[in-house]
Amino acid sequence: MQIAVAGKGGGGKTTFAALAIRELVAAGSGPVLAVDADANANLGEVLGLAFQETIADILAEMADDRRSRPGGMSKADYLNFRLHQALTEGPEVDLLVMGGPEGPGCYCYANNLLRQFIEQKARDYPVLVLDNEAGLEHLSRRTTRQVDILVVVSDATVRGIRSAGRIYQLATRLDLGIRRSCLVVNRVREGTLLELEAEIGQTGLELAGCLPFDPAVETWDRQGKPLVQLPDDAPAVAAVREIVKRIVPKN
Ligand SMILES: Nc1ncnc2c1ncn2[C@@H]1O[C@H](COP(=O)(O)OP(=O)(O)O)[C@@H](O)[C@H]1O
Ligand SMILES: [Mg+2]
Repeated sequence: MQIAVAGKGGGGKTTFAALAIRELVAAGSGPVLAVDADANANLGEVLGLAFQETIADILAEMADDRRSRPGGMSKADYLNFRLHQALTEGPEVDLLVMGGPEGPGCYCYANNLLRQFIEQKARDYPVLVLDNEAGLEHLSRRTTRQVDILVVVSDATVRGIRSAGRIYQLATRLDLGIRRSCLVVNRVREGTLLELEAEIGQTGLELAGCLPFDPAVETWDRQGKPLVQLPDDAPAVAAVREIVKRIVPKN
């Protein structure tokens, strides 16, 4: 099952993705493959996983034909070998960081192999969670072709909700086979959701739930601590738990 998290920058995609991964693992739905598809990659930090290389680094290396390959290895075999090396393994969660943007050179060949690699990896894990960037660049390159659940995360503002609606429209046009699309409203202060009801209705997205503003998230991020280590009863953690129960079918 593939879950893609989207939304404008700063809205809370990475926070939601990390906490959702934590809940999926706790519910026994793992192991999870976490894919960081934001060029400004920081999913690893909130998951507590340090990565060495990004896929973009490897593709750039492959685009440079002057770079030598180990003797006798075909370009395809070598790229596959390098892509496997880019996987950071953790307990119950492995991480792939796409990096980017693509530099000069031709990436079609490498992107085709990358697509096959990700399709293969998606079969190896019961769940794949993709943390996207606002423009959905990664999804539009079609390295991921099947999205079961699209979660658009927005802050609790009219501008944020409208932006979520546009991202949903964009995702629909990409023909990703999305089975379910929903909205998560983040940093909601008590009683303010009602004011956004009409805007939320306009997006056409199902409201999966909201996350309160959680001072613990702020503190953890300020101190650079992985969000997966937040206490079980932190308000944002509890809210994501409910959302995951609502939108992810039990296996
Ligand atoms: N529910 C929340 N309560 C408090 N702070 C939050 C909450 N959600 C996100 N944040 C803060 O907002 C900032 C942006 O969140 P992030 O998940 O990185 O957004 P995105 O990945 O969409 O750019 C982070 O500094 C994070 O600590
Ligand atoms: Mg992010």
